[in-house]
Amino acid sequence: MRERKLQPPKGPLQGKIEVPGDKSISHRSVMFGSLAHGTTHVQHFLGSEDCLRTLTIFQAMGVKIEQKGSSLTIFGKGPEALKEPLEPLYFGNSGTTARLMLGILAGLPMFTTLHGDISLTKRPMNRVVEPLRLMGAQIDGRDHGNYLPLAIRGQTMKGIRYELPVKSAQVKSAILLAGLFAEGETTVTESTSTRNHTETMLEAFGAELHINGTAVSLKGNQTLTATDIYVPGDISSAAFFLVAAAIVPGSSLKLLNVGLNETRTGIIDVLLEMGADIQIENERQKGGERIGNITITYRELKAVTIEGEIIPRLIDEIPIIALLATQAEGTTVIKDARELRVKETDRIRAVTETLTRLGANIKETKDGFIICGKTKLVGNRVESYHDHRMGMLAAVASLITTTEVTIDDITPIATSYPSFFKDLEQII
Ligand code: S3P
Repeated sequence: MRERKLQPPKGPLQGKIEVPGDKSISHRSVMFGSLAHGTTHVQHFLGSEDCLRTLTIFQAMGVKIEQKGSSLTIFGKGPEALKEPLEPLYFGNSGTTARLMLGILAGLPMFTTLHGDISLTKRPMNRVVEPLRLMGAQIDGRDHGNYLPLAIRGQTMKGIRYELPVKSAQVKSAILLAGLFAEGETTVTESTSTRNHTETMLEAFGAELHINGTAVSLKGNQTLTATDIYVPGDISSAAFFLVAAAIVPGSSLKLLNVGLNETRTGIIDVLLEMGADIQIENERQKGGERIGNITITYRELKAVTIEGEIIPRLIDEIPIIALLATQAEGTTVIKDARELRVKETDRIRAVTETLTRLGANIKETKDGFIICGKTKLVGNRVESYHDHRMGMLAAVASLITTTEVTIDDITPIATSYPSFFKDLEQII
C-alpha cells in the first residue's frame, strides 16, 4: 500500500507528453514474437507490471527475451520449442495475459497451472474456457474452471465457428490464438467490433486470415514468422491527460504518437461531441497501426449520451469519461456498459463511490451511470480498489478539487502506467 496526497494545482496544464506504449499491443507483441520463428524486435514496449507478466511467462517456458529500456528482442523458435514450465504461471493483475494465454496453452502439449492476484482471481474465465472446451481443451479450476487458479492439460484442438456472447476482444483473441495451431478452420463472429490488434498482428506475423464484416476466420496449423513491431502510445493512458486538459480551465496539451486505431478512439468521438477543441496532426500508419499527435485545448463542455456500438471502442476510458461528465453542462447518460462490473474491480460501483465522495452528482445504474453537471468537486480520501484506472481517475480529479485528495494506494497504477506521476508533474 502506498498512500499519496495530491494538492490541486494553481494554474492551467501546459506541455507535451509522449505516453508509454499501448498495453494491448505490448502483450500481443511478446506472445506473437514468442510463438513465431525468428527474431522479433519490439520498439516502445510498455514495461508495465501487466506486460512484464506476459514476458516472464514466456521466459518461464524457455523463450529468450532481451529487454533494453523500451526495446525488446525476442528469439522465437515456434510453439513446438516452448517448454513445460516448472512452476505455476503467475498472471498478477493482468486479465489480458490470463485470457489470451488460456487460448495459447490449451493447445500446447504440456501441463500448466495458472494463478493471479486477488482482483484477477475474482474475474470470470468461463467466457474463454467454454469456447476453448468446445475446441477440445481440458481446463479445470475453481467453480468448474470459471475462476483462477486453473489447470490446463494441453490437447490437440479443433477449429470452431463461434459467435461471441460477450463483446470482448480478449475472448475473440483467445479463440483465434487457439485456432491458429488447431486442426481445421476457426471463425469468430462478433455482434459489435472490438479492438482488432490480434488480427492486425496475426497479419504482420504472416498468418493468413479472412475478415468479412465482423467475422474473422483462419485456418489451423499455421506458422508465424518474426517481424519488427512498433508499439504506438496507449490511447487509454492518453485519455487521462485528454480529460485533464478538458476540465482544467485554460489548459492546452499535446500528446505525441498516440495510437488512433478506429476500434479504440471512442474517447475522441465523445470529447468532440461534448464540444472539446481537439486537433489531430501528423496522422500516419506505423507498424500496421494508425498513430498521430493530439492537441487538446480547454473549452466549455456539454453533456452527451454514450451507448451501443461505441462502448467497446471506449470501454477502458469510461471511468475517466465519468469524471469528464461531472464538468459538462447537463445530464450525461452512459449505458450498455455492464462489462465494467467485471473489470479489475466493479468499475460502475467504484466510479460512483469515488465521484460521490468528491462531491459529484452521479447515480449508478445496472449498466452505467447518470451524471449531472457541472459540479464543483471537493477534496476527500478515496480508494484505488486494486485498479490502476481508478487510481489515475482520482489523481486527475485532484486537478480540479477545491482541497487535497488522498489516494489510499497508488501501487496499482504501475500495472499500466508506471511513469504516470512523472508525466503528470511535467504538465502541472
Ligand atoms: C483488452 C480488451 C478489453 C480491455 C482490456 C484489454 C485486450 O477487455 O478492457 O483492458 O487487450 O484485448 P475485454 O476484451 O474483456 O473487453
